[in-house]
Amino acid sequence: MDEMIESSLKEQLVLNPPEGFSRSANISDPEIYRRSEEDPEKFWGELSKNIDWFEEWDQILDWKPPHSKWFLNGKLNASYNCLDRHLQNKKDKLAIIWEGEDGAEKTYTYGELYDATCRFSNVLKKMGVEKGDIVTIYLPMIPEAVIAMLACARIGAPHSVVFAGFSHEALAQRVTDAKSEYVITCDGYHHKGKLQTQKEKTDKGLEKVSGVKEVLVVQHANNEIDMKPGRDVWLHYLLHGVSNECPAEPMDSEDTLFLMYTSGTTGKPKGVVHSTGGYLVSAYTTANWVFDLKDDDIYWCTADVGWITGHSYITYGPLLNGATILIYEGSPDYPGKARFWSLIEKYKVTIFYTAPTAIRMFMKWGDALPQKHDLSSLRLLGSVGEPINPRAWLWYYEQIGGKRCPVVDTWWQTETGMIMITSLPGITPMKPGSASKAFPGIKAVVLDEAGNEVPVGKGGYLAIKNPWPSMIRTVHGNEERFHKTYWSKWGGDIYMSGDGARVDEDGYIWVLGRLDDVIKVAGHRLGTMEIESSLVSHPAVTEAAVEGKADEIKGEVIVAYVILEAYVEPSDKLRDELKAHVADEIGHIARPADIIFAEDLPKTRSGKIMRRILKAITNGEDVGDVTTLQNPDIVEELKRKVGGE
Ligand code: WT7
Repeated sequence: MDEMIESSLKEQLVLNPPEGFSRSANISDPEIYRRSEEDPEKFWGELSKNIDWFEEWDQILDWKPPHSKWFLNGKLNASYNCLDRHLQNKKDKLAIIWEGEDGAEKTYTYGELYDATCRFSNVLKKMGVEKGDIVTIYLPMIPEAVIAMLACARIGAPHSVVFAGFSHEALAQRVTDAKSEYVITCDGYHHKGKLQTQKEKTDKGLEKVSGVKEVLVVQHANNEIDMKPGRDVWLHYLLHGVSNECPAEPMDSEDTLFLMYTSGTTGKPKGVVHSTGGYLVSAYTTANWVFDLKDDDIYWCTADVGWITGHSYITYGPLLNGATILIYEGSPDYPGKARFWSLIEKYKVTIFYTAPTAIRMFMKWGDALPQKHDLSSLRLLGSVGEPINPRAWLWYYEQIGGKRCPVVDTWWQTETGMIMITSLPGITPMKPGSASKAFPGIKAVVLDEAGNEVPVGKGGYLAIKNPWPSMIRTVHGNEERFHKTYWSKWGGDIYMSGDGARVDEDGYIWVLGRLDDVIKVAGHRLGTMEIESSLVSHPAVTEAAVEGKADEIKGEVIVAYVILEAYVEPSDKLRDELKAHVADEIGHIARPADIIFAEDLPKTRSGKIMRRILKAITNGEDVGDVTTLQNPDIVEELKRKVGGE
């Protein structure tokens, strides 16, 4: 592992937060770190007062590693906290500004969002959804996605949002694992000007699932669809005559708010379980401190609601804070490559949160595009999803932020629920390329194999030493996997993130990327095993191994090594077919950039694929010692093939 995580990045540059920004920042006193360290529990206990509780909690934390319970016996509701409590002062304030890819606009004030959510909740009740039922939401970036989440939360039904761009297979797998009896989808939506037939995909997925009672369909693209009698119902039919009042169900602090499926090191995605009280306290606090939300901000997070970023920093964090959020349905390059900049100009966006992949793409598209737009409304920029290289960081800071806006590079995960490592924009000097320091209350460390903290500058495993309110509670239906994946490396009470990192002499954390069999393609998390099992499910394939290859824009792209059945002839046609097969089984984000037909793979004498060597071959790096392989000759052959010979 050492050569992989021994960093070659140099940290020369330190930039102070812009003075004007610091003066009015929500957090302007570094004292906050000391206070949080003194007594993290008390610290979170105080912050929990920013959330409205129907009944007060009577204990802050119960920590029986790896299980934590936060704010015990407290009763509250997530939807109430995002909506009802703002009605008195913010009823007419915009909660959501939505723009469709075709330029359509729709807005919701907090009052309107409250009504829409209550009505949606009543529809869910009409369908028979009860407290505790898991509802799968398979919707694109339309207001109904957020409304559906809040409506589920309102009646105590945990939601499981599946990214709309995932395939029918991926949907089927998630619905089955969650034993979800209700699915919310739409007729279709537009992506890069092309109609995506979401309902058709839903139907195809659900063919493989038993136990789904009802499918609620949002009319959005107005494309023609089949409705399955007895199962499918239109939202707009059920909305007829429905009341715009629906009491928010008092939930226990530890009741599940949602599941979020994410990729791991096995073939099957895992359902990360998040609970209510702790999650809301974390989401509220981090959104307020990291994004410095103020009443007049227009906040835009470009992630999809189908990922954890969309949960914590589109829906819950900002709405808990009573902020105005922008939601854009489409793609950054449609109809032209300046779409994001024109959106910022048009809506006077003040806070912009996006991914390094997008930033590197914008960089490639050239400075002229943002320069043609008035981006002076911006006052804070954020980055998430993968390490951001200093060059992209600086471009973002200069070209988009005009050197006025602090950049917060936020490290966190589906499992952590909240931003864990970041600068606080009013107080932390920024080092381009480093996510800075642990958020107050979080003990982030870099450890070696034995669990000791590594010396300054040395690479190791990024780990979290203490519990935090929005931490993963378990893996849905798989306690064992929960223990094994996150808690088994060092004695049971230290969380292993799966990332490598190092700490510099100023205590700044430099995240170096995944150390496990997870790859990040354009910030999306994919398990190599998942892609491999999809490949071997194709009749022409006997064996497959997938590696990430460094890519200038996407961070990593997928290279698949495929061994074919003896009777199959390799061809370009087959290559395309296999790429399409993976896209069809998982989703377009998992489509391999390259497929290499191999005779064999580098294996140990016991037949295990040597991932380290395959990774080096893929990236054109030194493969090191190959003498322990049963088939050392294959290395040169694969190198030739990767090199395009
Ligand atoms: C993985 C988690 C949580 C937001 C979206 C991704 C990588 C995330 C950063 C960052 C370096 C980052 C890590 C992490 N990652 N943010 N600022 N710097 N790496 O959530 O899909 O659960 O992926 O994303 O590798 O483990 P996710």
